[in-house]
Amino acid sequence: MAHSMGFIALLSLLSFAPLCFSGNTLGGGHLYPQFYDHSCPKAQEIVRYFVVEAVAEDPRMAASLLRLHFHDCFVKGCDASVLLDSSATIRSEKGSNPNRNSARGFEVIDGIKAAIEEECPHTVSCADILALAARDSVVLTGGPYWDVPLGRRDSKGASLRGSNNNIPGPNSKFQTILTKFKLQGLNIVDLVTLSGSHTIGNAQCTNFRQRLYNQSGNGKPDYTLNKSYAARLRARCPTSGSDQNLFYLDFVSPVKFDNNYFKNLLAYKGLLSSDQVLFTKNDVSRELVKKYAYNQELFFEQFTKSIIKMGNISSLTGYKGEIRKNCRKVNAY
Ligand code: HEM
Ligand SMILES: *[C@@H]1O[C@H](CO)[C@@H](O)[C@H](O)[C@H]1NC(C)=O
Ligand SMILES: *[C@@H]1O[C@H](CO)[C@@H](O)[C@H](O)[C@H]1NC(C)=O
Ligand SMILES: *[C@@H]1O[C@H](CO)[C@@H](O)[C@H](O)[C@H]1NC(C)=O
Repeated sequence: MAHSMGFIALLSLLSFAPLCFSGNTLGGGHLYPQFYDHSCPKAQEIVRYFVVEAVAEDPRMAASLLRLHFHDCFVKGCDASVLLDSSATIRSEKGSNPNRNSARGFEVIDGIKAAIEEECPHTVSCADILALAARDSVVLTGGPYWDVPLGRRDSKGASLRGSNNNIPGPNSKFQTILTKFKLQGLNIVDLVTLSGSHTIGNAQCTNFRQRLYNQSGNGKPDYTLNKSYAARLRARCPTSGSDQNLFYLDFVSPVKFDNNYFKNLLAYKGLLSSDQVLFTKNDVSRELVKKYAYNQELFFEQFTKSIIKMGNISSLTGYKGEIRKNCRKVNAY
């Protein structure tokens, strides 16, 4: 009996070991930070170099790159589907409601990919580049560091429908937003914590105008929006026109990754309805907002956990998918 148990244990060791340790085109099932240590030791350094350059030139780029990783992961998993341009076979996710005239940073990813292809051809996935660029963006703006689990592979397709359906909108109800997170395997803690990403970056007038003028169809502004803050917003976001005027998601410290986003929610100064509802529509999320408003450490600590979890959404690994040569198109054979 003991002998046969040992035999089974040995068998399972033999069948699992190659999955984890045989280098980077084999394997599968899970991601780990050392994935490119031998195949492309400079990969992380290259990503960081380009993100530093891009953010120095345009501070908003940190936010834009972080958001791209989110919009990638919520559609078919973190597989760089968001980066594909339209082609004969692909309807690009770039045309979805959340992304159209809004998602940005694609040229930065192109630059990183080109440099990495030069250093180690056909080795590093576009999906991993997105995950690393998101981490570097958070660190550069003052947020927490985490080791990024790696080994994702790139999709051979995109889902315009998935992009429209899976990513919540700025006027979605709390329950709708939470449901969309749960469909991705994320919970209410992940929702509140990851929404803290809105501590950096901008939003266009068109995405919160409804709150300023006619939130519930009665011709009145959203009563959960501070009145003097609302008045300030209306000055550059009129009832019609100026759709693309930009506003800081966190007006207190717009390019710093900190916990002012949560402090703003306590003061009814969240920019998007989807931000403010985290404080006004659910007891569990309200308590979390308060905790993070009082304790930035706690926010940072949970942020690293939640973003690693988001980065783990059904990613392609092992032999699935491919390593794209150009992040905008699938490889030709
Ligand atoms: C909870 C549901 C969420 C909703 C409804 C939402 C919605 C939005 C909207 C409407 C914008 C402004 C886009 C524009 O005006 O062009 C935005 C920006 C942004 N979002 Fe979210 N978001 C959500 C969650 C997240 C998550 C989970 C992350 C990251 C992990 C994230 C990161 C960002 C960042 C960094 C920006 C600023 C982008 C820039 O300045 O280019 N958001 N979001
Ligand atoms: C507010 O919205 C409702 C329903 O969408 C609409 O019927 C009404 O005309 C709007 N009121 C104003 C003042 O725009
Ligand atoms: C709204 O914000 C203003 C300016 O910060 C502040 O003076 C006011 O007390 C706030 N209103 C409410 C109801 O909290
Ligand atoms: C990542 O996903 C794998 C496979 O789905 C799972 O076994 C693992 O626990 C996940 N890790 C994290 C950190 O969520």
